[in-house]
Amino acid sequence: MEIYLDTAKVEEIREFAWLIDGVTTNPTLVAQAGRPFHEALREICQIVHGPVSAEVVAQDEEGMVREAQELARIADNIVIKIPLTQEGLKAVKRLKALGIRTNVTLVFSAPQALLAAKCGADYVSPFVGRIDDHGGDGMSVVAEILQIFRNYEFPTRVIVASVRHPGHVVAAATLGAHIATVPYSVLKRLFQHPLTDQGIARFLADWEKVPRSGTY
Ligand code: G3P
Repeated sequence: MEIYLDTAKVEEIREFAWLIDGVTTNPTLVAQAGRPFHEALREICQIVHGPVSAEVVAQDEEGMVREAQELARIADNIVIKIPLTQEGLKAVKRLKALGIRTNVTLVFSAPQALLAAKCGADYVSPFVGRIDDHGGDGMSVVAEILQIFRNYEFPTRVIVASVRHPGHVVAAATLGAHIATVPYSVLKRLFQHPLTDQGIARFLADWEKVPRSGTY
């Protein structure tokens, strides 16, 4: 499974550039980064060579296509995030014909994902954390989407988004999702286990007891 970092903060991306397969942003994350959008995006695309998702804010087909074309000019690895609406999916079809890749976002159900795949989306992003927040089961939605895509051999890839904890990452990988996009804090937690820390402390303490001779 590929791992993307869900952030627009360049310092977080730099720290994990050696590990991650791509980056996803959204207007909230761009606001948190506190920098002009295009400037931040240009820098992110210089650091990461995998797909970098950048979201449009227009709500109509024409506006979305126009914004997408501007964003796509920034770098070859830009993928345009389009919200799952009727206008959005019309824009997805247009962008496909123009050779611009799309990530259909704000997906909360299997029928939404099916429509996005039929319209030629390159990626769909089901928001598992927000589904869970509303009393649903985000991962069962992901399982349905993956099964539907397998049934009809859709090439659309599933990005498990709105990831809140390592358990979401494990569940995504267990289901065979193509990608999980994770916030910086969750990526840090993926490395951690208290037994690893305890193990290192014990090894280092024992190492001190090894008799020294010459250089070692
Ligand atoms: O990038 C989209 C998604 O990951 C947002 O997550 O935590 O705002 O629901 P969240």
